Amino acid sequence: MQAYELTGVGFDTLIRTQRPRRSPAAHEVEIRVAASSINYRDYALVHGLYQRDLPKPFIPLSDGAGTVVSVGENVRRFKPGERVLGHYTTGWLDGPFSSDNHASKLGGPLDGWLADSIILPEQALLKVPKHLSLVEASTLPVSGLTAWAALGDIERLSGRRVLIEGTGSVSLMALQLAAAAGAETFVLSGKAQYHDRLRELGATRVFDYRQLDDVPATLLAATQGKGIDLAVEVVGGNHLLSTLSLMADGGTVAVVGFLEGFEVNGDLIGPLLRRLLTLRGVSVGSRAQFEDFLDFLTRHRIHPLVGTHYDFDSAPLAIEEAEGRAGLGKPVIVHDELTP
Ligand SMILES: NC(=O)c1ccc[n+]([C@@H]2O[C@H](COP(=O)([O-])OP(=O)(O)OC[C@H]3O[C@@H](n4cnc5c(N)ncnc54)[C@H](OP(=O)(O)O)[C@@H]3O)[C@@H](O)[C@H]2O)c1
Repeated sequence: MQAYELTGVGFDTLIRTQRPRRSPAAHEVEIRVAASSINYRDYALVHGLYQRDLPKPFIPLSDGAGTVVSVGENVRRFKPGERVLGHYTTGWLDGPFSSDNHASKLGGPLDGWLADSIILPEQALLKVPKHLSLVEASTLPVSGLTAWAALGDIERLSGRRVLIEGTGSVSLMALQLAAAAGAETFVLSGKAQYHDRLRELGATRVFDYRQLDDVPATLLAATQGKGIDLAVEVVGGNHLLSTLSLMADGGTVAVVGFLEGFEVNGDLIGPLLRRLLTLRGVSVGSRAQFEDFLDFLTRHRIHPLVGTHYDFDSAPLAIEEAEGRAGLGKPVIVHDELTP
């Protein structure tokens, strides 16, 4: 089968290769990959910015969708011809997270979707909702489910003030979900050309953080001094301190990303104690959460935003361009243009 392997650290170590085909074992499903999508994680893994020591080689990309080609003799949930998408943390099916689950992630350490076919245990697959194309579905497993998990109990979001940072794929889905749940959404985006589109997607207020001298003061003024109830923190680093300073009493910061790094230098504890804030780490989600997320998308007819399309030959370029890309929506690699 055709695949790319990450064989080391650096863009040059992403190599196209031919792997021998095998048949699915008793509980496995063979999938013809229709589309895969790029997360910041993929870029960071290639460049050694994140989990530099993961054993190599592995096939990159955590997100993908396709059509079942064949199934092992004990597979009960799927049959050939069905449209499926992958569950990223394959071993986390339900209940609380265990740090052992990190070992079961697709696209490092386990082989991911950057291939023409993939064989996965049936427990690591879900059916694609009918209203979504396979290309749309391929964008959901990491950033979509992360947005869902970051928002927490969606039924309690109505009327709450939610902060969304930027227009990355986690943030766009968080915006769509929070708006559908009836939240008041405050979006910070440095891409002024997309502000109207963000309002169409449900943003209550949009601010260009590059034009603001004091982001927390602006957000506090916009919320009549009350502050934000739930922030989806994708930027990380010292930006977290700025976020803490604009939170409402009892608010929660869902800590998702590390675009500005992992280290925080400053007063972290003071704001937590003064306003009884909660810092909650997010590591994507379980399969049960994924099922609830897909159900919500179906009920609200939500379509994820898809960005630039690349073909399989251009996959390395797709990963390289993921950092600092210009467009709105998640970049996808369309493996097979003929699959609907
Ligand atoms: N913990 C988890 O489970 C999990 C899962 C998925 C992703 N992540 C992490 O979450 C982060 C975001 O992922 P992603 O895939 O959504 O990234 P992405 O698609 O690359 O999005 C990056 C966006 O962040 C925005 N941004 C950067 N600096 C900002 C700032 N100072 N204020 C506000 N917005 C800012 C920019 O939006 P504008 O251009 O609009 O300004 C930029 O487009 C990454 O660190 C990723 O690794 C974590």
